Amino acid sequence: MIIKKPDDIKTSEITDPDLYASRRTFMRTLAAGSVALATTPLIGIDEVEASDKIPKVHKSIYTLKEALTEKKFIYGHNNFYEFGTAKGDPVKYAKNLKTRPWTVRVEGEIKKAVSYDFDDLIRMHRLEERIYRLRCVEAWSMVIPWVGIPLRDIIKRLQPTSRAKYVEFTTLYDPKQMPGQRPGIFGGSLPWPYVEALRLDEAMHPLTILAVGIYGEFMPPQNGAPIRLVVPWKYGFKSIKSIVKIRFTSTQPRTTWNQAAPREYGFYANVNPDVAHPRWSQARERRIASGSWYEALLRAKRKTLPFNGYAGQVAHLYTRMDLKKFF
Ligand code: MTE
Repeated sequence: MIIKKPDDIKTSEITDPDLYASRRTFMRTLAAGSVALATTPLIGIDEVEASDKIPKVHKSIYTLKEALTEKKFIYGHNNFYEFGTAKGDPVKYAKNLKTRPWTVRVEGEIKKAVSYDFDDLIRMHRLEERIYRLRCVEAWSMVIPWVGIPLRDIIKRLQPTSRAKYVEFTTLYDPKQMPGQRPGIFGGSLPWPYVEALRLDEAMHPLTILAVGIYGEFMPPQNGAPIRLVVPWKYGFKSIKSIVKIRFTSTQPRTTWNQAAPREYGFYANVNPDVAHPRWSQARERRIASGSWYEALLRAKRKTLPFNGYAGQVAHLYTRMDLKKFF
């Protein structure tokens, strides 16, 4: 039997675009034989389960040897305000987010603007597993085995101009799919779409990735499918989810949380135990790792490390800056 890997199936070969709500649903439907494919042989059930695994993932040297947080917490305790403000909302309401086809538009101060189809983007780049701490500004942390593309690999191909100083990222704006973006429903919590940004040298740092998966599997919607930023030395809110646009700029972009509450959320957002949030200390954090929900929440707090433990790799980026001012 000729088995066509899911990655080789072109969008144009599928007759009903509504059927690819998510890769998972798409693959299941495909296995059940209910999608009319013009030329593609059907994939067997075994291959379908295997296809949720991301192929060709390399081990990375930039990885921690710490106990991993269990999937149930990574996939069930989220911040994704487009789907509600409670930690349990995204897993319930992001389920049907349509992540195929997905286009990432790249523009601004680069040689030539380009739109990437998500599947092409991952085929073109080296995928690596990176085990990183994620430290949320709300003082909990997790250890997550991401699968991602080093952002610098993408940037190098794009050839930023000499005017490019910052990189801005934008999340999908689609109130039909994202109830949190509708006025009034979840309180119109933030100005939409969600925008985040890095300085170009931060974006080019080898630790910065665009993540496409967790635990070797494609990213679940609630974690920011199909592609999100991960910057391990910064508070979690910099790690913007479900990215549709990347723009290179000469001036510092306005970012969502910084705009919504500038005294509480700075542009830099480097994890810093010495700079308290106006309403709580940032000196310690609760590691959500494993066990029952109850145990996880009770777990003893540990000290938060400067730059989330990555000072050796990134402190040099900020040598001449007052990090209390540029928090
Ligand atoms: N991206 C978008 N588009 N919307 C959001 O609400 N929340 C941020 C960040 N990215 C958020 C987002 C915050 S506050 C955190 S802590 C991380 O996502 C959480 O990522 P996780 O749910 O995968 O743990």
